[in-house]
Amino acid sequence: MTLTQIHTDHAPSADEFAERLFTSTLATAETMSIYLGERLGWYADLADHGPSTADDVAARTGTHRRYVREWLEMQAAFGILDADTTSTTPKFAIAPGVAEVLLDEHSLAYLGALPRMFAAAFTHLPELMSAYRRGGGVSWEALGADARECQAALNRPWFAQRLGPAIAGVDHIHRTLSRPGARILDVGFGGGWSTIALAQAYPEALFTGLDVDAESVAMARRNAADHGVADRVDFRLADGNTAGEAGTFDIAFAFECIHDMPRPVEVLRSVRAALVPGGSMVVMDEAVSGEFAGSADEVDRLMYGFSIFVCLPDGMCSEPSSATGTVMRPSVLDGYAKDAGFAGAATLPIDDFSFFRFYELTTRT
Ligand SMILES: C[S@@+](CC[C@H](N)C(=O)[O-])C[C@H]1O[C@@H](n2cnc3c(N)ncnc32)[C@H](O)[C@@H]1O
Repeated sequence: MTLTQIHTDHAPSADEFAERLFTSTLATAETMSIYLGERLGWYADLADHGPSTADDVAARTGTHRRYVREWLEMQAAFGILDADTTSTTPKFAIAPGVAEVLLDEHSLAYLGALPRMFAAAFTHLPELMSAYRRGGGVSWEALGADARECQAALNRPWFAQRLGPAIAGVDHIHRTLSRPGARILDVGFGGGWSTIALAQAYPEALFTGLDVDAESVAMARRNAADHGVADRVDFRLADGNTAGEAGTFDIAFAFECIHDMPRPVEVLRSVRAALVPGGSMVVMDEAVSGEFAGSADEVDRLMYGFSIFVCLPDGMCSEPSSATGTVMRPSVLDGYAKDAGFAGAATLPIDDFSFFRFYELTTRT
């Protein structure tokens, strides 16, 4: 096949693609400027104090006034902040809608921590380049606080507000969780918000979490204590491939982590073996399309963005690796489930849950 045969009718001209790259570059600058404002506390300061000059913001946040002024002007130029330029010393303000998206960690619209994921990856570009040449990867642990905190913060409002009602809507799973003393496993819990939400929704159930990242375990334990569920939630530093004896758990969950695991089948097999007879596992992962078909929608594009910088390098940091990546198609999970001894991965009727799809992996009885 020659190159001309695979071009689509939508292939851009040089001018069109130059325009697109220019727009993308503006978006990259905007995204990383949001990282600065979020991490340095400038948005929070404006939200707390209302219209302010650059010197006010610099003084209150203990940052350098010249950088603050340039950043504030840039934010106004990009239309993120509002500027009153009628006086010689302009004042800047953050609109309520912008503040909600950037600062309100309880809002479903919250995205303020999103730039941290890319900031984390960009810090490791030399290692990523090396991995792209020779194999290997960059682990979740190495990506550090920016990645870990972004992940936990972005999923938190969805778990807190929507996970309980979503699970309550699936009758047989709801009944399992409602049984007094039900034993629930959450593999790869990260910040622990999924476990905490389930523990709050099902006050008679007992929860065990397994995660390989020590900093995540510490963060999740703090969160569980702060939310009054530490007595029923046991967050452990352990690999999901050591889930426990047969019959240890009535049901297991894995939220947005199977695609990150170097050896997902090993973990699924261990979890299956630790379930009661007829028990099942619920997997929440990215709602990507069924197969690769070239040009894709925004969900697939975002997931490829995470995949090339974060999830695929994380999954490939340990050998041997299934090298899944963020764009885990339903058929791929179904194959992993069957290889692990489950009957397969069936989609659960849970819709409108951020970027996610829920699957149930049932055991053969
Ligand atoms: C992308 S984060 C998801 C965290 C959390 N479930 C959430 O939805 O926010 C993936 C998590 O899986 C954990 N993880 C990866 N491989 C694991 C394994 N084999 N066993 C247990 N945890 C694992 C990582 O340490 C990380 O905390």
